[in-house]
Amino acid sequence: MRPRFRENLFVLDKVSSTNELLMRAPLSEYPMDTALLALQQSQGRGRAEREWSSPPGGMYLSVLFLPREVEGLALLGALCVVEMCRREFSLPALIRWPNDVYLEGRKLAGVLAQVQFQGQKVVRAVLGVGLNVSQSTESFAPELRSTATTLSHHRPSESWQVEEVARLFLLYLERELDAYGRDGNAALFARCEQYLEGLDPPMEAYLVSLQSRRPLGGIKGLDSKGELILADGTRLRHLGPQERLVLS
Ligand code: BTN
Repeated sequence: MRPRFRENLFVLDKVSSTNELLMRAPLSEYPMDTALLALQQSQGRGRAEREWSSPPGGMYLSVLFLPREVEGLALLGALCVVEMCRREFSLPALIRWPNDVYLEGRKLAGVLAQVQFQGQKVVRAVLGVGLNVSQSTESFAPELRSTATTLSHHRPSESWQVEEVARLFLLYLERELDAYGRDGNAALFARCEQYLEGLDPPMEAYLVSLQSRRPLGGIKGLDSKGELILADGTRLRHLGPQERLVLS
């Protein structure tokens, strides 16, 4: 069934982290299909407990729901950002496996999917998206200024409203989760593959950690589990906490 996030959207000025609020609250506090949009976060979180800088001008959005499957939720969020950018703003965004959206080689958005189990049963999932909409370059931490981008940088004449972008994104997410519930994750990964960065034009992938930069060769696609298939036929299942995928 199609979720109705747009009907249950709360817009808040500033919170610690929209993901934390939805993951930590007692299960009875927020109904399923709640969406929280914050205009700023004081403790935004990224993958592997990294900080997600969250000044005004960015979209900090999380949704609470019960998924049919838990594999591939971050890719699903990235797919929705990519499709929204392409269809609504004619921007050639791409998915950088496993959870990012890149535009012309710079990071536009990141997705954080969290799932809570009780025994074997999933009791909630929270999908959080941080999308750079119209932050000024100066509001980014110095180390991000040369690697991040915003929608307004690419479309400066549009008057960007974070809440409007969030509502549009939620429309894509509602449709995509509905399709995921019907068609399953193999169909989802096949759709993600067409937007996978590194395929066309072909790029070289590197697994970068604090201590090393390991060449992985080219990228061949995504398999039916959402794992990254490399040109030599091996697969990358997930990234370690300190690892990043770099393409050039
Ligand atoms: C990443 O690229 O590491 C994922 C970043 C996810 C950031 C979003 S912003 C909304 C939600 N609340 C958080 O604290 N994190 C996610």
